[in-house]
Amino acid sequence: MSIIRSHITGCGSYLPERIIENAEMAKLVDTSDDWIIARTGIKRRHVAADGEMTSDLATHAARKAMDAAGITADDVDMIVVATATPDETFPATATRVQNNLGMTKGFAFDVQAVCSGFVFALSVADNFVTSGQAKTALVIGAETFSRILDWDDRTTCVLFGDGAGAVVLQASEGTGTTEDRGLLASRLHSDGRHHDLLYVDGGPSSTQTTGFLRMAGKEVFKHAVKNLSSVVDETLEQVGLASEAIDWVVPHQANKRILDATARKLKIDPSKVIITVDEHANTSAASVPLALDTAVRDGRIQQGDLLLMEAMGGGFTWGACLVRW
Ligand code: ACO
Repeated sequence: MSIIRSHITGCGSYLPERIIENAEMAKLVDTSDDWIIARTGIKRRHVAADGEMTSDLATHAARKAMDAAGITADDVDMIVVATATPDETFPATATRVQNNLGMTKGFAFDVQAVCSGFVFALSVADNFVTSGQAKTALVIGAETFSRILDWDDRTTCVLFGDGAGAVVLQASEGTGTTEDRGLLASRLHSDGRHHDLLYVDGGPSSTQTTGFLRMAGKEVFKHAVKNLSSVVDETLEQVGLASEAIDWVVPHQANKRILDATARKLKIDPSKVIITVDEHANTSAASVPLALDTAVRDGRIQQGDLLLMEAMGGGFTWGACLVRW
């Protein structure tokens, strides 16, 4: 029996030109290259230029993904942008991207799940594609976290960067087995009880300011390893596969130590984990598609490979997607 699968037919990414090395961070706050590398694995981060907005980063990444898929804006039925740093309170950043791309049909909206945003957006778009409501979707993770950082707080400002990544998701016929190319399974979770461990202390309805990111790092770390390993197990279970079947883990890039601890807990060989946190820092919703694009372009990810994408973020939110490339 044939079924509709949503299949990633192209990916792309974009990083702002300006790079801030750890040594430069040490001039802004009381920190050091050694501390940042030892505790996080981060060496540098990209930061958007004045006037460069989340929608600009998203548009660059989207154009590259469309080129890779060999499509134009006329082929796109829907755009989903995952972001916690929208250009404006409203309208959705996705509608700005839609306009930038010259797309006048279809629909565009944002998804807000912070660092898990891309995994949530991919899962949402998959539902539209597999239900027949859209044939081609652009799914983008884009952030300018530099705008919501307290640059005097060394416990948070060293951890994040700006960037965007995108994929084109298209309907294709599958047989319903795990050998099909496309999105095979996804699991999403949230638990609002943990709001105070990771949040932004502002917003239109609370303070009428944008606010700054606040985080209890140690607590977030513990929840991340626990939640990520359990959602990966759940996702694999959904399709009856074991972790040995995974060719590449494409994780949210928060901290090298979280990546190592999660891989250890899941008994996944660390050489199968795509790591970009050293070069990009934590780019929130952009980090999974940025890591994906890096490994596709350098040739590590090959057709037929089984990819596991996973992420956790403020809320808390967390989730995973299993994709046959
Ligand atoms: N430079 C130098 N010293 C620092 C810095 C810094 N940038 N930041 C904190 N310190 C100090 C602290 O003040 C503390 O000093 P003290 O012992 O004198 O009090 C000491 O370093 C240790 O601080 P801890 O918070 O205990 O350090 P920890 O080993 O937990 O590392 C970190 C902190 C990197 C934030 C870690 O907890 C972490 O990565 N947590 C995960 C959070 C995360 O990645 N969140 C991203 C969003 S959610 C997600 O994406 C999953």
